[in-house]
Amino acid sequence: MDWYSEQTDLDLSKQNELRLSCKLPKHIGIIMDGNGRWALEHGLTRTEGHKQGIESVRDIVKACAQIGIPYLTLYAFSLENWKRPSSEVGVLMNLLEYYLKKEIKDLNENNVRLLAIGKISSLPKKVQRLLFEAIDITSKNTGLTLTLALSYSGRWDIVRAVQMIAHDIRRGKIAPEDITEEIFSSYLQTSQLPDPDLIIRTSGEMRLSNFLLWESAYSEIYISNKYWPEFRRDDLYTAIKDYSRRERRFGKISAQIHEASKQNVENVKIEK
Ligand code: IPE
Ligand code: IPE
Ligand code: MG
Repeated sequence: MDWYSEQTDLDLSKQNELRLSCKLPKHIGIIMDGNGRWALEHGLTRTEGHKQGIESVRDIVKACAQIGIPYLTLYAFSLENWKRPSSEVGVLMNLLEYYLKKEIKDLNENNVRLLAIGKISSLPKKVQRLLFEAIDITSKNTGLTLTLALSYSGRWDIVRAVQMIAHDIRRGKIAPEDITEEIFSSYLQTSQLPDPDLIIRTSGEMRLSNFLLWESAYSEIYISNKYWPEFRRDDLYTAIKDYSRRERRFGKISAQIHEASKQNVENVKIEK
């Protein structure tokens, strides 16, 4: 299915407006939260909530690809989520398998490159196989990079990086004084990704829950009160508009940011 031919005129015009009037984030990270509460409020089982959550994943992935967002990272399962009742963990793993089986063809046909971060070796073998196959099939694609954070936690990735650095020091590959922020980042599983510009969390919770801890140092955070199963493309557009209105100062003062953007405009004029 070609995602670009099925869009309504209204949606196309909303996306065009975003492209023209907003500074688009290069990398969006989403903490997809609230499946269980959504289900409870609708008198459904948590499983139904997770199933409905997949519909939101589909819509948001498509919308990001259509708008031309280069990177989307979805926090689908944390390392801490293994502590949930085993029946729920089983349901989530089955749904992951179902999603991968069903979506790979579509993702590939729409030029999406799939990546995964997290302790992938702890996932069921069947899921691992599907995941590696999907990553391989889509590896040459040049559109949206969709990263699934699975069995992931930010602290786990940081500790893992420290261990690898320690090994490299022992082997004489690097010296402790060579370690910079850039070098450290290159040991993280996210080394191929730019830092997230915008992190969205649904269901009103105001915490990171171990998502991209190092990478989110200067991310803009947007909290939606909607539960994940009801968060759809129009909510994404609202989040992007909100992001676009923010002033990212990275420690500087406002006047410096204005001066830099004036300079950029002038440079563009001179180049023309
Ligand atoms: C998000 O929804 C899905 C995962 C964390 C896997 P939850 O399952 O956390 O739903 P709530 O937060 O209990 O409502
Ligand atoms: C965060 O949701 C993890 C994912 C969305 C995968 P949780 O529901 O696990 O977070 P907490 O426990 O409420 O912080
Ligand atoms: Mg939750």
